[in-house]
Order: sequence, then C-alpha cells, then structure tokens
Amino acid sequence: MDKSIIKTAIPGPKSKAALQKQIQWESDAISYPKRLPIALDKAYGSYVQDIDGNIFIDFLLGAGSLPLGHSHPELVDEVYKQAKKLTLGLDFPTPIKEAFTEAHINMLPENLRNSYKLHFCGPTGADAVEAAIKLAKISTGHQEIISFRGGYHGCTNGALSVTGNRQMKKNFLGLMPGVHFFPFGSESHSQTSWVMNSQQLDAGMFLESALRDANSGLGNIAAIILELVQGEGGLYVAEKSFVSKVYRLSREFNIPLIIDEIQTGCGRTGTWYAFEQYDIEPDIFITSKGTSGIGLPSSLMFYKKELKNWMAGNHIGTFRGNQLAFSAGVNAIKIIKEERILDNVVKMSQIIVDKLNTLKIKFPFLGEIRGKGLMLGVEILDPECKDADEKGAKKIQELTLQNGLIIEVGGRNDTVIRLLPPLNVGIETVNESLLILEKVFTCYENLINEKSC
Ligand SMILES: Cc1ncc(COP(=O)(O)O)c(C=O)c1O
Repeated sequence: MDKSIIKTAIPGPKSKAALQKQIQWESDAISYPKRLPIALDKAYGSYVQDIDGNIFIDFLLGAGSLPLGHSHPELVDEVYKQAKKLTLGLDFPTPIKEAFTEAHINMLPENLRNSYKLHFCGPTGADAVEAAIKLAKISTGHQEIISFRGGYHGCTNGALSVTGNRQMKKNFLGLMPGVHFFPFGSESHSQTSWVMNSQQLDAGMFLESALRDANSGLGNIAAIILELVQGEGGLYVAEKSFVSKVYRLSREFNIPLIIDEIQTGCGRTGTWYAFEQYDIEPDIFITSKGTSGIGLPSSLMFYKKELKNWMAGNHIGTFRGNQLAFSAGVNAIKIIKEERILDNVVKMSQIIVDKLNTLKIKFPFLGEIRGKGLMLGVEILDPECKDADEKGAKKIQELTLQNGLIIEVGGRNDTVIRLLPPLNVGIETVNESLLILEKVFTCYENLINEKSC
C-alpha cells in the first residue's frame, strides 16, 4: 500500500451498508464517519484501505495518534512479543514499563530530566487533563482555573470545563465551576475577525491586568492550562511573547502552569515537546496521542517534583498499565532517534507549507496557513466576503476524500482543513497528497464558479 487508488464512488457499496448498520446500532454521537463516510479494512504506513478496496492517504491518522503511521512492522513485532508475556500490569513495575519510563524521561531536555516525576494516567488524554487539574488543586489548595479561548482539552467533566467550544458544553450545567477564559495570544493573522490576535489585543497584558486587579473577579487560582498550538481550536500557534508573559506571571503569582501536549507531544511540532521551543519549564505537562507510536493508548502526566500532596490513590484507573503500548513506545522512541525523524518533521512541514503558500496565491478561498511541524491547517474562506467558510471547508473535505486523501476539519465552526501526516511521512506521499489537494482546489474553484469538475 503505497499509493492512493479510488475504485468506487465514495462511500462504496460495502461501506454504505456498514455505515447504515453503524447508525442502527451505535450512539448518535458518532463523529468521524459522518464527515468521512467509509468503513475501514486495513492500513499501513500513511495509507488506509476501506472495505470496498479504495486506498487513501491518511492525514487524519487516528486523530494524530499514529506518529510512525499505521502498523509500523517493528512496533507490531514488539507488540506481538509483549502480548505473549504480559498485557496489563496496573501500576506495578515491569521491565517494559521501566524501559518506557526511562525512554520518555531521556527524551526531555537534559537539564530537566531530574526535575519531573511521571504519573501514568487512564488511557485517554482527557484523563491526563483531569489528573493535572486535580494535582494543581491539591498542591495549591486553590480551586479556580485559567484557560484560553479556542482551547480543547477533552470531553470528561473537568476537561470539558476548561475547553472553549460552546457547542460541546451547552447542555451541561454541572461542569466544574471556577473556570475563567482569557484570549489566546496567537501569532495569527486569521480572517476569522472575532478570533482576537496579537494585532488587536495584547492577550498577555489582558491576563496580567486580571491577575493584578483586585476587582477582576478572579479567586484563588489553582492552575493555568494552555496549549502551545491549538489543534482542535484551529491550528493557532501561541506567540512567544505571550507564552513568556504567561510563564512569568505564573512564577510571580505561584500558579502551576499546565501545558497540554496531548496533541503536540512526542515530536508532532518538530521537537519532542512544543514547550522546548518556548524556553519555559511547565510545572505540569501531559501527553498521550503519540506515546506508543502505534495508537495503543497510554497517557502521561509529568509534574515538577516540588508539587506536593499527591498521595497514593489520588488519581487511579484500571487501564494505566498497558504493556503493549509500553513495548511499542520504547521502540517508537528508538526509531525516532535513530532515523532522525524529528528532522523529517521540520523538512516535510516546510515543503507542505511552501506548496500551500503557492496554492494560496492561485486560489482566493485559501486563507491563513497555520500550525507547526506536521500539525498544519488552512483556513477556508468565502471567496466573496472573505469570512471563514464552514460549508467550503466541508465541501473540500468531501472532495479530498473522493480523490483519495483523508483530512479532518477543525477550528472555529470547522472552517479549517487539517493535515496530520505521520512524522516519518516520505516525500512521495507528501507530493502525492499535495497533488490531490491542488486537484481538489481546482475542482472546488470550478464548483464555486458554477462549472462542474
Ligand atoms: C490538546 C488536547 N487535549 C486533550 C485531548 C483529549 O484527548 P482524548 O481524546 O484522548 O481524551 C485532545 C484530543 O484531541 C487534545 O487535542
């Protein structure tokens, strides 16, 4: 599987039947297949095959949780070997868990390797967010949390409380109280005019004034939680001056800073963690999507040793000792180091961004190109009024699928098309995906000019 091949209309007949059964049997909250109507059969590397035999380039990539692509053969071998030995170990020490822990600690910048302890969370990213909030509350004795507009932290009660998306929250009155949302200081020049950017507002100053003003309405703050690249929020990259200000304020006011690296972690932005590019030392950081390299869940919280009062049983869960994820993860890190895959992230990112910039000159509905490393997005605009265009992004996603490339949409009102290639993606696949995008943009332009394509 090393080229996309489309043999049927999408969805093909078998996928159509499978999707109908799914709707009958499964919850109405099904999400991805509603926008990407295919049923999956198998996958390898950057490619996935549906049950009708169509092969797609997969730049959705298990929502970014397959850094070395699908079913990397060395990782699969390790998982098989481990499966015969031990699969679940709760939080007992095991040789493979020890190797995994050591490998992850050794991926931290050298000066930080002794600063942090590691907590194994339940398998999801949201569970790590819950753990981080609890640890911050326990160690400060405070209850309120500062979060940022556009932030996404997951669907459990606490994680949803610190998430910006109003649509996702609107039916739940009992979310965690005491959460304050501040503008996110991004380097963006987005066309979405109501998303504040640093040209319109100094977000760091805004936060500073609230922290200093005795009448700002803030109580005692337990934590500030921040993404450095807002993935679900629309690929907004935090501006360095904003992050420095937030960091300095968190030091001055003794507020633990939680950096959510669930999506940015494990190499996605070109460094092992995005925070390495910001010259900060988070008090807590969390990661999960990329930890095993092969999509087996294992979510981690790193916290500074000075954070106190985290006691036995403070945050537990049955599925915290996934030995299969650990065995794959140890080897994923080895491969990422040996094959210098972080260099590949930077190189492929630049190639994609350069090409998208060229396409942007040609196609007026392409707006800002945003993101870092292999976590990229393009805002889709209404060609006439130049506002971000949800219908346009959806149509482009549909055409892209029909042409053999799976991409996600995200951002405010789903107006950004998102690319999440594997970190080890090759130049042939990148070029193939860019050709598909160019073809789709041409087709979309014809559609909006009312010619068919
Ligand atoms: C930044 C961030 N935090 C938290 C989460 C939640 O992770 P999960 O879906 O594994 O609960 C996500 C998921 O996309 C995320 O992108």
